Amino acid sequence: MDSIKVGLLGLGVVGGGTWKVLRRNAQEIARRAGQTIEVTRIAVRDVEKARALVGSAIQVDADPFGLVRDPSIDIVVELMGGDTLARELVLEAIAQGKHVVTANKALLAKHGTEIFAAASAKGVVVAFEAAVAGGIPIIKAIREGLTANRIEWVAGIINGTTNFILSEMRSRGLPFATVLAEAQKLGYAEADPTFDIEGVDAAHKLTLLASLAFGIPVQFDRAYIEGISKLSADDIKLAERLGYRIKLLGITKRRAEGVELRVHPALVPAKSMLANVEGAMNAVLVRGDAVGQTLYYGKGAGEEPTASAVVADLVDVTRLLTADPEHRVPHLAFQPDAMSDIPILSI
Ligand code: NDP
Ligand code: HSE
Repeated sequence: MDSIKVGLLGLGVVGGGTWKVLRRNAQEIARRAGQTIEVTRIAVRDVEKARALVGSAIQVDADPFGLVRDPSIDIVVELMGGDTLARELVLEAIAQGKHVVTANKALLAKHGTEIFAAASAKGVVVAFEAAVAGGIPIIKAIREGLTANRIEWVAGIINGTTNFILSEMRSRGLPFATVLAEAQKLGYAEADPTFDIEGVDAAHKLTLLASLAFGIPVQFDRAYIEGISKLSADDIKLAERLGYRIKLLGITKRRAEGVELRVHPALVPAKSMLANVEGAMNAVLVRGDAVGQTLYYGKGAGEEPTASAVVADLVDVTRLLTADPEHRVPHLAFQPDAMSDIPILSI
């Protein structure tokens, strides 16, 4: 193989970041992957805007199905967002026998069971490190680093936009709408920011974490979700006066009777570690029976932090593609137990 050929579906905040990181760190990435990783085709809606970033040497068009069916492409990277066209494209890429990397938590939270089953049947991988907690390698940590453990719970701040809003409202006294507009400008927010502020995005991510941690199917529709849109500046001030900060937390816990899956604002003691996770930073705590409590912290949203996770997946998949078939380690395959009958608790 000369190089691994990648097709990018989308060249927005995350797609653009992925392009830049792949270019800037090309040599180190090739050395670590054991092969050059080359973006050879990009599909977007606004072709001229994309060409302004990548130039004319690369095929850029508005034909995403052409890209996923292109026999020269080895890995399809889905960075478009949405769960309708993205679902069709990811399923088509899998049907074409291509590995997929995606940052799309909405897609996987809604259609993960179908997508992971299709990938497993076809013997390809759908890698999604960038879908949860931006640049923090939390998927790898749970899937690989903590694999010896019975995970007891996972909890933390897993939406950068809302954490940024709550931090800026508290520290700078800015109005909700002003800070949300800033988060959008910085590329943190979802295309539909109600996903962020109503807790839906955090619940998408929590659903994926619970599936990985407990080996249960992806069950977004069973999560309890409450966002931050009803919080006022007075709530934030009052919490502070009482020695607390308000944080939007995602919490999933294994209990004897089932799994808790909930996203809601919580009062966190001002001196605690979680209270001091500010701006678009994320922090995830995972408790395993052998290791005890572990903490993962870093940028949870934005162009290059998210690209860092996308490229990490690309390197993993490249290693898989280039390894001697007898020595391939199938650790990337993710197949939640579709038959698991551990219930999600009503809250
Ligand atoms: P953007 O809106 O910045 O970029 C989306 C890209 O997809 C654009 O290049 C857009 O093209 C293209 N696109 C959208 N619809 C179509 C279509 N129908 N046909 C062809 N191209 C299309 O989104 P982000 O980069 O912020 O997000 C991408 C994904 O990454 C989402 O799933 C998001 O949830 C996820 N994510 C985002 C993070 C972030 O910090 N922003 C962090 C982690 C995950 P055009 O510009 O021409 O319209
Ligand atoms: N909108 C998301 C957030 C992007 O703010 O956390 C990262 O997943």
